[in-house]
Amino acid sequence: MTELSQLEKDILCLLSFNQPIFINELAQLLDVPVYLIQESIDKLMAVTDIILSSKKDYFQLNAPYFPIKKTNLEKALNPIGFEEIYTFDSLHSTNQFLKENKKLTTPVLCHSDMQTAGRGRQGRKWFSPFATNLYFSIKYPMPSPISKCAGLSLMLGYCLVKAIENLLGTKKILLKWPNDLIYNKKKLAGILIETSENFIIMGIGINVNCLSQNNPIITKPWTSLREIYEKPISREQLLIKIVQEIHENTKIFFKNGFSVFHEKWLDKDAFHNQPISVLRGDELIEGLAKGITKNGNLLVLNALGELLEIESGELS
Ligand code: BTN
Repeated sequence: MTELSQLEKDILCLLSFNQPIFINELAQLLDVPVYLIQESIDKLMAVTDIILSSKKDYFQLNAPYFPIKKTNLEKALNPIGFEEIYTFDSLHSTNQFLKENKKLTTPVLCHSDMQTAGRGRQGRKWFSPFATNLYFSIKYPMPSPISKCAGLSLMLGYCLVKAIENLLGTKKILLKWPNDLIYNKKKLAGILIETSENFIIMGIGINVNCLSQNNPIITKPWTSLREIYEKPISREQLLIKIVQEIHENTKIFFKNGFSVFHEKWLDKDAFHNQPISVLRGDELIEGLAKGITKNGNLLVLNALGELLEIESGELS
């Protein structure tokens, strides 16, 4: 885990005005010697991918930097029950942190500006560059029986779209079964649910301010809120809104199950009546997407006219 010093954070804030700044100017503005600025910049360049030096001794950010303050999260989320909130500059994985720390008071939120071992579904990695996007996890006690969790990731996807669109405006952000947010067929966010003893951990990654052309290492098409809304997005308010939305709906979900969210999910179904392939284990199922059941299973109409119900798999 790498934590940033106050000086390093101040430098990032100054650089976020989106104009290259000369190193001497940074030293003057922050009232510290140039060599200390240079040292901090060297460290920032090593742990983040956010700084570019355009000309010699000039620095700028390649993405806007909107810091997330723990005190602001606490102010908004303590009153609804998040007594413990963890924020990091860098962490292996927010899901892993909540898995390892078993004695936390739930519900608990963990956010990190960067993940060095961010995890995606199916053992994939989750690209987690510094402070450009949102990476966070929430832990709740597991409801009993565990079958009450059926459709949880679908409910979460719905919460994400609702919170994003309420805050930033309605766009055609849609849901891809079982748990992706997509826009114009490109991935915007992903959800990874894991369990640990008697707890359930909901991990969420949202592409906020990264630009797809800057990150060629991801092969599947993806987009970000900055690209969708055509402006840089402040992450703090968005994180708060999402956690509030998730908390409110999780209570409803654990009490009533997914059926309450069924119609709402169908309204945002990205693939309704479209030809799809689903990989279930080694089996490839092809057909037309016909929505989902009240338990959250995918419905596929195959070439034989059979309506198949699929509990888990990868859709493409
Ligand atoms: C997916 O593959 O679509 C799921 C991606 C989930 C990524 C998030 S980022 C925060 C949390 N911590 C992790 O290591 N993964 C999840």
